[in-house]
Amino acid sequence: MPLIAILAGDGIGPEVTAQARRVLDALGLDFSYQEALVGGVAYHQLGHPLPPATLELAKRSDAILFGAVGDPSCDGLERSLRPEQAILGLRKELGLFANLRPATLFKGLEDASALRPEVASAIDLVIVRETNGDVYFGDKGIRTTAAGRREGYDIMSYDEDEVTRIARVGFETARTRQRRLCSIDKANVLETSQLWRDVVIALSADYPDVELTHMYVDNAAMQLVRNPGQFDVIVTGNLFGDILSDQASMCAGSIGMLPSATLNGSGQGLYEPIHGSAPDIAGQGKANPCAAILSAAMMLRHSLGMPEAADRIEAAVAAAILGGARTPDLGGTLSTAAMGDAVLAQIG
Ligand code: NAI
Ligand code: MG
Repeated sequence: MPLIAILAGDGIGPEVTAQARRVLDALGLDFSYQEALVGGVAYHQLGHPLPPATLELAKRSDAILFGAVGDPSCDGLERSLRPEQAILGLRKELGLFANLRPATLFKGLEDASALRPEVASAIDLVIVRETNGDVYFGDKGIRTTAAGRREGYDIMSYDEDEVTRIARVGFETARTRQRRLCSIDKANVLETSQLWRDVVIALSADYPDVELTHMYVDNAAMQLVRNPGQFDVIVTGNLFGDILSDQASMCAGSIGMLPSATLNGSGQGLYEPIHGSAPDIAGQGKANPCAAILSAAMMLRHSLGMPEAADRIEAAVAAAILGGARTPDLGGTLSTAAMGDAVLAQIG
């Protein structure tokens, strides 16, 4: 029986994860759950944001359903003890390098998008973001220069194997869709990006059926709001992907609608909404649980071999939204639990 590790974390993490779990339970599928502490709550209770028992559970699980980490009361801590280190640590320790972030606009949400309805409704893309390298994992620190000034630094680097394996995920993902891959970099300025681009071009020989294009990240930011419909699959590095996927969420109505999967190539994956712990709305029942519920659907599809169950969840969310169910981020008044009820009602 597959084991799902539930790491709900901080802020709205537990609120939205609870709704995802209700939806999973309603499907009557065969798997077991085990919960563990992660993030600020783990730091406060056990002294570390990613305690050994949590990491051990994550390693032996078939899939991880993750909420969010981030706790303002931990802001003054040294970096290694901050809640966000838990998600970075899980990605690194489990080799979770390929973060898939689909962005679509659900029917009925055209008015919730920051873009004009006719521009927004064309969005249907997947961002494939690398999550094991880049400035997030490079040498970093704050040092004092010879002139006596403090200087912060974070080293950006990618080796060619790292680029090849994420680019391969990009090409393979494109093959399941419209066979168009846009690689986003900053090759006009950054050497890391020049290598990235060279490696992606070399790999494209294996995928003659996929149309490959390249775009600088600053232009990509503009194109995502000018005409998001032009993209099918985007492949990019950790930092650019982080920023562009939050941006894409605004085309899709709300950050509370966007799920993600982070895969390591062995079938195991970590599934989480793209949003964080949202301390500004935590504890108020205002969080939109759809991103967490849709992340559970991605888990069923990518790690548990249950694509029909995934389809059922996605159809239920779409039907609930089309039926007018809205949390405050979408301009409605439903609570987190009431939104969960609306999705459950469609599961039947
Ligand atoms: P955030 O994603 O938590 O919130 C950004 C804005 O979106 C806030 O106004 C929030 O209220 C709103 N929002 C987010 N999710 C929502 C939902 N489901 N329904 C309705 N509204 C929603 O990003 P922020 O504020 O930059 O970061 C807060 C904390 O979360 C920080 O500690 C940050 O480091 C952490 N974080 C953790 C992530 C993770 O666990 N993977 C990812 C991003 C941020
Ligand atoms: Mg982010």
